[in-house]
Amino acid sequence: MINNSLCLKTNSIETSLRWKGSDEQIATNRMQIERCLHDLNTSFHVIKHRDYGIALASGGEVLPTGDYPCSGLIPALKPEWLGSDEFKKDHNTNYAYQAGAMANGISSVDLVTALARKGYLACFGAAGLPLARVEEAIVKLQANLTNAPYAFNLIHSPSEPQLERECVELYLKYGIKTLEASAFMNLTPNLVYYRAAGLSQNSDGQIIAKNHIIAKISRREVAELLMKPAPEKMLRDLVMQGKITEEQAALACKVPVAGDITVEADSAGHTDNRPLVCLLPFIQEIRDRIQSEYQYQKNIRVGAAGGISTPNAVLAAFMMGADYVVTGSVNQACLESGTSETVKASLAQADIADVAMTPAGDMFEMGVKVQVLKRGTLYAMRAQKLYDMYREYNSIDEIPAVERQKIEKEFFQKDLDSVWNETVAYFEKRDPNQINRAINNPKKKMALIFKWYLGKSSRWASAGMQERKPDYQVWCGPAMGAFNEWTRGSYLEKPENRHVVDVAYHLMRGAAYLFRLRLLNMLSVNYATHHGTYKIINSITI
Ligand SMILES: Cc1cc2nc3c(=O)[nH]c(=O)nc-3n(C[C@H](O)[C@H](O)[C@H](O)COP(=O)(O)O)c2cc1C
Repeated sequence: MINNSLCLKTNSIETSLRWKGSDEQIATNRMQIERCLHDLNTSFHVIKHRDYGIALASGGEVLPTGDYPCSGLIPALKPEWLGSDEFKKDHNTNYAYQAGAMANGISSVDLVTALARKGYLACFGAAGLPLARVEEAIVKLQANLTNAPYAFNLIHSPSEPQLERECVELYLKYGIKTLEASAFMNLTPNLVYYRAAGLSQNSDGQIIAKNHIIAKISRREVAELLMKPAPEKMLRDLVMQGKITEEQAALACKVPVAGDITVEADSAGHTDNRPLVCLLPFIQEIRDRIQSEYQYQKNIRVGAAGGISTPNAVLAAFMMGADYVVTGSVNQACLESGTSETVKASLAQADIADVAMTPAGDMFEMGVKVQVLKRGTLYAMRAQKLYDMYREYNSIDEIPAVERQKIEKEFFQKDLDSVWNETVAYFEKRDPNQINRAINNPKKKMALIFKWYLGKSSRWASAGMQERKPDYQVWCGPAMGAFNEWTRGSYLEKPENRHVVDVAYHLMRGAAYLFRLRLLNMLSVNYATHHGTYKIINSITI
């Protein structure tokens, strides 16, 4: 096919740069050009062939006396080359790619193992699990993965501070090297303890950080706290308690609390729904300022999360200077995730608008919201109704009888006295303080009763309880709909083919492909307009 409608954009270069080589090295028609673009290991020159118009040439030389005008080079670009090399080195990965934590073990041992074995970092979803289950996961992962990357989640638990402390102690006991810290609004001694306890210095004066924190944030004030060194008072207290040494306290003043800051835009679960294109540069500016103020030996890295589920989104994040990308929603829909087949099937149907913000179970009283799947479940509406009642009334007894009966029948499917009895039994084992506080505080008691529903709803979903389908709480962001649209017609459309490694592979490979396609579009005219997508091919090499 002759591409006469295409021409080089940089006409001025035509006279100075010309390509010389054999005609066999030239790809002239669209099919051949596309094949070249898919060959990510090879660089190509963009030339204007006298008979075929725009063409790609491999090998050869660029000289003032070459045969064809040349507008530039499309470099080889392996997916492994995207993002920060330091990230890959510090976390021992092949890719600047992380699968974020998904609570209740939804990012399961299987999910973390599968990704780790292919050189991707993944975080076990420890939030919401009893400590014994987290320990079990640590033991399994350490047996599965001797020298492969993995992380554990530390979720800030303002209402259960002892849980956060015990979690950190467990992670330190087992030598967990990377934590994904999330939902922090302030620094806690637990977080600082984990970071400082891993610090030492080598004979060259270089600070060695054994314990890495990848902190997920969406707000400036939290980002600043995590990018700065830990407060001296907190470090002094830790020294006094014998948890860290004087040397570690001194070293902690020279490193940021978190070496990696994940900017969480409009994502599943906890989110402020900020657009990534606004939030990422905003946080990068803050990083640059803090980095230059503190002159850390190592640059703070900034990664991107929220809405990353297509090669275009991955490429956009890297082009905006993200050091790494983080996915979430798409992994929940994969075979290795710890949720039910029913949820995975619903996720595969989701459109970009099938999500809603609704009150969060863990920070219910504070009015914090989470993003969930709206399609096929009434959960978002029901949780909002409970929050509205919590705002309106001071105790369960104040709720008018008709309203109470309605929620007992439709939401709880049991009377609220039985729910309270179950709640007491649950917290007696886990955290009796909660009950002590609620006994003299009817509003707190109401919150705990409502949180029974919010807490159970995600477990009904994970367990795939058919009779509770209208109450499923499924954390999900618009990324899911974008992924479904992109994979339509490919083997990844079907839930039974969605493996986390395939998803990661195509996202990263697709981003590298699209980079080269966009470059070709910049160096020529109109090439990419009809071929602007990355085609997913079921590759047995994955
Ligand atoms: C089902 C589910 C559960 C999640 N649970 C957690 C969690 O416990 N801790 C956490 O830090 N992030 C959690 N996230 C957020 C992800 O780690 C990730 O940051 C986010 O999903 C990325 O945005 P995306 O959903 O738009 O891809 C969860 C996400 C999903 C989909």
